[in-house]
Amino acid sequence: MSLIYVLNGPNLNLLGKRQPEVYGHETLAMVEADCRRVAEELGHSIRFEQSNREYEIIDWIHAAREEAAGIIINPAALTHTSIAILDALNAYDHPVIEVHISNVHKREAFRHHSYVSLRADGVIAGLGTEGYQLAIRRICTLLKS
Ligand code: DQA
Repeated sequence: MSLIYVLNGPNLNLLGKRQPEVYGHETLAMVEADCRRVAEELGHSIRFEQSNREYEIIDWIHAAREEAAGIIINPAALTHTSIAILDALNAYDHPVIEVHISNVHKREAFRHHSYVSLRADGVIAGLGTEGYQLAIRRICTLLKS
């Protein structure tokens, strides 16, 4: 049984209330419950976290070096700005999947560039909150191979 980290960046605590026309009506607690169910079905467990503070996300990525078999990360707006998160992920040796609820490529130009994509083994965007479950399935496949 492996531990998978699911990390969420700024403003995702407001999921379900914030711009539902873009991000949907599901709350982050519902996303967490879905992730736990899918991971357990596949014989794994998850640590699910959200922070509005960049340093906290970096600290979790460092902790993942010691204990996580994979990271799923939605860095939210930090996707487009944070070289520090990219550097932390570059110091992590196992699979990384980047998730975006919305299709960032259909939105403003500043959302089209992702620092995290320079490290991610896969990127899911525009599949709504279902993207998290698909990312867990993909990490589990990578862990088997
Ligand atoms: C997001 C897309 C980002 O551009 C935005 O800043 C977010 C959420 C998404 O999940 O679609 O906060 O990462």
